[in-house]
Formats: sequence, C-alpha cells, structure tokens
Amino acid sequence: MATPTTALRRLLPSTRSAALQQLTTPRKAAMSTKATSIAARTTSTSLQMPAALIRSRPAFLQQTCYATQRYYSSGTRDKSSQPLVDQKDKSAVSVADKKVHLRWIDGTTSRFHSFWLRDHCHCPECYHTVTKQRLVNTFKIPRDVKPKSVTPTSTGLEVVWDHDNHKSFYSYSWLNKHSYDPKIRDPYKPEGAAKVTWDNSIASNLPEVAYKDVMESDKGLAAWLDNIHVYGFSFVSGVPVSTEATEELAKRIAFIRETHYGGFWDFTSDLGHGDTAYTDIALGSHTDTTYFTDPAGLQMFHLLHHDGEGGLNLLVDGFHCAKVLKEQYPESYKTLSKISVPSHSAGDAATHIVPSPRHNPILNHDQVTKDLVQIRFNNDDRSTLDHLDADQVEAFYSALFDWNKVLTDEKHMLWTKFQPGRVVIFDNWRCLHGRSSFTGKRRMCGAYTNWDDYRSRWRTLNTSAEQLAEDL
Ligand SMILES: [Fe+2]
Ligand SMILES: [Zn+2]
Repeated sequence: MATPTTALRRLLPSTRSAALQQLTTPRKAAMSTKATSIAARTTSTSLQMPAALIRSRPAFLQQTCYATQRYYSSGTRDKSSQPLVDQKDKSAVSVADKKVHLRWIDGTTSRFHSFWLRDHCHCPECYHTVTKQRLVNTFKIPRDVKPKSVTPTSTGLEVVWDHDNHKSFYSYSWLNKHSYDPKIRDPYKPEGAAKVTWDNSIASNLPEVAYKDVMESDKGLAAWLDNIHVYGFSFVSGVPVSTEATEELAKRIAFIRETHYGGFWDFTSDLGHGDTAYTDIALGSHTDTTYFTDPAGLQMFHLLHHDGEGGLNLLVDGFHCAKVLKEQYPESYKTLSKISVPSHSAGDAATHIVPSPRHNPILNHDQVTKDLVQIRFNNDDRSTLDHLDADQVEAFYSALFDWNKVLTDEKHMLWTKFQPGRVVIFDNWRCLHGRSSFTGKRRMCGAYTNWDDYRSRWRTLNTSAEQLAEDL
C-alpha cells in the first residue's frame, strides 16, 4: 500500500497499453471451456497432492516458467520400501568416540553424539506424544552420557543408557532424515510441490479454483493453498459478490490478521486511512507491510464494484525477478540481500509503526538453507537511509536501480483487471502487486492472513500427520 516512485509512475502509462492487450488473454481463458483452471483440473482428477499437481501442471508452464531446482515435493521423497539398514550386518552399529555409528545400506555411516541421542529421545516419557513437546530435562543428562547397549531392531535402534537404564528407541527413517554427520537429507528443505516461478506468459493459464470447491471440501481448500504455494497466487471464481462471502472465504484458511487498517477491509478511494492504497493513484510493484516485524503473509482482494476507467491490477513474481537479478546483476543481488533498509507506516495520527529489527534487506534468506524466503520491498514506505556507510550508499542505489529494471520489465508484469465474483489471493512474501490509476467509484474488500497460519493450514492439508511428526 503506497505510492509509486516517480520512475515507476512514469513507467506505468506505457505498460498500460501492453496490459490492455494482454487482458484479452486471461478473459478468453476464463471463458473458454477448454481452459479449465489448473486446480479445477486437479480436483477433477485426484487431489493426491502435491504429486498430482506436478503431473497436472500444464506443459506450457513447464516449458516457459522457471522451476526452482532446490524445492522438492514431500510427495517425491524417497518412500521406497527398501530397508535402510542391513539387518544381517552385525558391524552396522557400533559405539566409539562418545558417538553411535550407524552404517546405512548404501555404505554411508552416520555418527550421532551420545548426548544428542539422549537429548532427542522420543519415548513418551521424554516427548509428549500429543503436544509434540519435549519433556526430557536436558540439564539432568550427564554430559558424558553413554549407552550401555545399542540394539538394532527391524525398524530402528534401541538404546539403553548406562547411568539410569532409560530405554530409548530411534526409528531408522527418523535417524536417516535427521542425520547431521553427514547430512543425508536436509530436514530444512522447503516442503511441498516444486515452486514454479513465472513471467507474464502465465496469463493464458492462470491458477484458479472454484469458490464452491474451496468452501465445500478440504480437498478444494488444499488445491487452493497449493496453488498459492506453487505459483505464489491464485484466483477463485464464482465468489458471491458480497463482503460476507469474501470474509468467509478468507477464514477458510485461518483467522484474519488484524492490523491498524482493521481486520477484514471494505474500502474505497476515500483516504479512509493515511495510505495511498485508499486513493485512486497508480501504485508500483510492492509488497505490503514491510514496516511490520512480521509482514502479512497472504493478501486477498475482491473487487466488489467499479464503474470507471483504469484500475488494472498488477502482479509480479518476486522470486522469478530475484532469480533474473541474480543471473544478470549478481552483485546487486548480493547487495540487496545484505544491505538492510528501514521502513515505516505513519499515515494515521495515532500510528507510528517501525519494525524490529529496524532495518531489513529487500531479499531475505533462510539462514540455514540460504534459500530466498521473503521479498520485502516497498520503495515508498522506506525511511531515511542514514545508517549506510558512504560506499554502501552508491552500492545500494545501483542495486536498487537494477532491481527496479527487472521488476518493471514488461514481461515480468502480469496485468489483469479484477472482476466482481473473482477473488485474487497472493503470497505477500513472494509476489509484488500494484495497480494503475482509476476513475469512478471503486469498492474493494479483502484481508491479510498471517504467513505462519497459512503455511500451517497448507502443511496439514497436504502432508500426512506421520510425515509432519517425523519432520520435527
Ligand atoms: Fe499494497
Ligand atoms: Zn526417553
């Protein structure tokens, strides 16, 4: 929610004609019986997601969109029934150097510190089976704890501890998944179906689900959430044109996130809040709430009414643009991943919001996996850059210009015109959004959802409880 930069404002009119031309494509797609939506096709086939989604992904998308190689499907995890450990091999398990050594069937040996094993005991005494919280008192485990015996069974290792005869059991699959020396499977690997990043050629086959499916079954809801996971956004068709129905739709995912803009929004261009979202001026690509410590996860919009001109809606895949930036301007990618910027929301008299930490990079990565996990970019909500070193000032502006170049590349800009009855929802940590200026009366409603609550809902609907428990 903010004004575009002058540069972006200048760019917007020129992109409008291209956007108008493109508008015919999604409209045609929406009207065509042949162009059944991606998720609609999934629901009609099986919904054994996420593998089903990968299979059903149109060849068109596979050819033209970049699929990040580092994302994997939990559905593609190795579920072979082959044993992980050779039961007959008596030397597969040994204890040495305060560690339990376990040789896998492929010859790899994992080493587990004795203390680590005792600390990770998942017996009912040490780990609550329902709450999945640790009950073991780490600080009462002797630092030199050692096994009295280690017995391989058909499904895992049984360990009896020397000092108190406590019996622990670790399944081979759990040990294999959480092996850290060496790392065999990365437990921090992003879950779910492979993400598909896109440019505006996605316009001819937009991810879409039917309102009825989402409201009537968890399968429909799972398909909707998986669209958001894979593409970063999804349309929902056939939504009753009312705030009530839209609010119910949002609540299918999780409770609505309240902010200083309220909970569920129903707004026009009346400057109801001190933010340019509540005006009729053009807004360049941005993510919302960069000024929150925890930016809003999902953002939903439903255009209830518009009787004027303009007001085209822009979506940009930030992950795709980040990849392009990394390829074409690697130094700029590094700069925007390292240099952090301050932001604020202070448009209402009683509001003065700044995040903690006060400064955050535009490109945010997982500390362990190094994967890009969050785009945090609103050039208009940026506060004064007085924290940079002199040489950082040059580097930052140079990188910012490269980023803007990629974001405003026409082929990265997906322009659509929202319609009453057709809701859009997008991942605010991945997709940037904007709009062209408009005339006339325009009424929009929508909501934010917390990132964690969206991911939790997606995860529990798309992955088995056993799998999720083992991942912890
Ligand atoms: Fe916004
Ligand atoms: Zn235990």
